Amino acid sequence: MSLSTVGMWLYRNGGGEQIQRKIVHKLQDRGIKCITGLDLKHAQVKNGAINCNGVSMDELDAFLSYNAGEQTPYQRYLYQMVSHVTPTINNFDSFAIAEDKFQTSHLLNLHGVTTPDYRLVGRDDYEGLKQAMTDFGGKMIYKPVDGWGGSGIVKIEGENALKTVLPFIEQTELRYFYLEKFVTYDNTDYRIDIVDGKFVGCYGRKAPKGEWKTNITSGGSVFVREPDQEVIELAIKSAKILGLEIAGVDIIYDQEREEYVVLEVNTIPAFATPEQEQLGINFNQHKIDALVNLLERTVHYKAREQTIKVA
Ligand SMILES: Nc1ncnc2c1ncn2[C@@H]1O[C@H](COP(=O)(O)OP(=O)(O)O)[C@@H](O)[C@H]1O
Ligand SMILES: [Mg+2]
Repeated sequence: MSLSTVGMWLYRNGGGEQIQRKIVHKLQDRGIKCITGLDLKHAQVKNGAINCNGVSMDELDAFLSYNAGEQTPYQRYLYQMVSHVTPTINNFDSFAIAEDKFQTSHLLNLHGVTTPDYRLVGRDDYEGLKQAMTDFGGKMIYKPVDGWGGSGIVKIEGENALKTVLPFIEQTELRYFYLEKFVTYDNTDYRIDIVDGKFVGCYGRKAPKGEWKTNITSGGSVFVREPDQEVIELAIKSAKILGLEIAGVDIIYDQEREEYVVLEVNTIPAFATPEQEQLGINFNQHKIDALVNLLERTVHYKAREQTIKVA
């Protein structure tokens, strides 16, 4: 019988299935058992245990939550509970902070990582909105704090544009607005992957011609990109500030400030897809190894902790 068990919920599209197979094999080689497909959507709580597909989540030695699909409130709530009991990657608290763009920017800034200039404005504070527009030089971005893939991000240019969007804003249920100065940059970014405090991979993305959003879902294209040390260190520092075991840090070069700025920190950064690997984006192996090392250390840590408790 295996000494330790890792539970996993990993995305399956875009080559995820092959990645999962490799992780499972590598863990098995180290004497660690793996249970996959632990989607907490199917979990039930009864008799004092969280059960998912016949597995007691409370008895796992580690849980890897790595599925980019949108989580239901139920799933998310259980993720939080599991994370309190079982060493979970990413740990829920850091995940929750990083999922929120305002909280991320604010924490990063407080700890010395530069982000685009930002504001949080209450929904009735039109003066605050106008002031932001002025202070940001007439170009700003409204960002949903929990958005992804570039969706819902809107550029607002000038006070007239602000007046035009106001009626729409008033119709929404939003209670506050997260705004950023629109950064002048070359419409390319860096996605830096960090696992366990170490740099594991990088690629670049370029916005389509005439556009400014680099997300692939917004038509952006991926290219091989070598980051310099400054970019790597910025990403490592960002992951550390948020306390994330795994992070994908989005960075651009602000041409006005003449420095790199962190846009956001992703908690489930995708491995390179088979198509991206064809382009020469070849960090998957490295990332898998770092993840397996982290999981191995995590289960051994848990085992040690239990021994201490029993003693
Ligand atoms: N302040 C900004 N100035 C200019 N472009 C931005 C700014 N913030 C985001 N973008 C562009 O929009 C894209 C999506 O923003 P991001 O904050 O990464 O959110 P998402 O979670 O939707 O990816 C970025 O990749 C970048 O191309
Ligand atoms: Mg992004």
